[in-house]
Amino acid sequence: MKEYINFNSYLFSEEEKRELVDTLDSGWLTTGPKTKRFEEDFAKYIKAANAVGVTSGTAALHLALLGLGIGAGDEVITTPMTFVSTLNAIVYTSAKPVLADIEPDTLNIDIAEIRKKITKRTKAIIPVHYAGQPCRMDEIHAMAKEHKLYVVEDAAHAIETEYKGRKMGSSSNAACFSFHPIKNITTGEGGMVTTDDQAFADRVRVMRLHGMDKTAWRRYEKGQFRHWDMEYIGFKYNMTDIQASLGIQQLKKIEDFWKKRQEYSGRYDKHFKAEKNIIMLPPPEAGNRNAYHLYPIRVKTENLKMTRDEIIDAIQAKNIGVGVHFRAAHTLTYYKKYFKSGKGTFPNAEYASDRLISLPLYPKMTIDDVDYVAGSVKEIIKKAAA
Ligand SMILES: Cc1ncc(COP(=O)(O)O)c(C=O)c1O
Repeated sequence: MKEYINFNSYLFSEEEKRELVDTLDSGWLTTGPKTKRFEEDFAKYIKAANAVGVTSGTAALHLALLGLGIGAGDEVITTPMTFVSTLNAIVYTSAKPVLADIEPDTLNIDIAEIRKKITKRTKAIIPVHYAGQPCRMDEIHAMAKEHKLYVVEDAAHAIETEYKGRKMGSSSNAACFSFHPIKNITTGEGGMVTTDDQAFADRVRVMRLHGMDKTAWRRYEKGQFRHWDMEYIGFKYNMTDIQASLGIQQLKKIEDFWKKRQEYSGRYDKHFKAEKNIIMLPPPEAGNRNAYHLYPIRVKTENLKMTRDEIIDAIQAKNIGVGVHFRAAHTLTYYKKYFKSGKGTFPNAEYASDRLISLPLYPKMTIDDVDYVAGSVKEIIKKAAA
């Protein structure tokens, strides 16, 4: 049997280790010069005017919504096909998440469904670029303009993604990124808010550190002590220089990592393309750039003698790690109660939710690993179809 293939793994080399040791030796561990450098590098990569480093993608979403003044009595429209933190961030602000069903092919939020959910209380839309495939942002921006809504992009899967030649977040109020170890680049845990709006960026920057005024973080530097003030109620969401030192070096490699992801994703496509009646594949790029964050297949259980979970067990028995991105948020216990959602509330999300399996996709794996995973998955599913 082949050695265990993890579902995911980060890839650090000497460069990250050297940068980390440099930070440990520098005498400054929390938010400081490395965070500033990573923010500048990231802003340049995304082509945004500002980037604010935070502790996670979840913190990025929370602060972006607060920075726009979203709170009690407001509604924010998003997708059920996302990680819970997209919805949780809305709940943290005391606003109400409102879900709109997804497109059956891209699994991104369906524009027509968003329109049906807009009310007088709607303040913002959070499109999630599922698995790295961009949402139809022109249409979302047009709708947002028509109804005077904010747009905060959940770009946790979409650092390298481009829509019509532009990186994610342009023309939106903000984009929120994650550097969790499963993401395309990692800082251990971490996140970033990008925006072209300077005043909004300043608010987010203040709120990420208790609401203390802008330069308070420097108070322990030589000769820098002064009394600080607290301008707003804030949070302890500041990125540290330890995290940023990993990010600085990971970002330099992002395009090389991406090429591997693209290659492996294409290889999976080739393996599975003859099995369309039993395996649904991520749709092709449609002229945009996919970040290839995940390789999610949907097993057509209506044509199989096994359930999705039985197929997962069989894949794991072949020493292969898998994930599920995602079980639709409104089917999870908390949100099922919150939305009082029964079966059939969001049919497209539920259809996908019951069939999705994410296969390993990361630069550290080899093409042999990809072939082994694809061969094993095909064997299992073809047997289930016989
Ligand atoms: C779509 C989406 N949004 C937000 C997040 C939250 O990111 P983090 O884990 O950095 O808080 C994730 C993380 O998995 C995600 O997949």
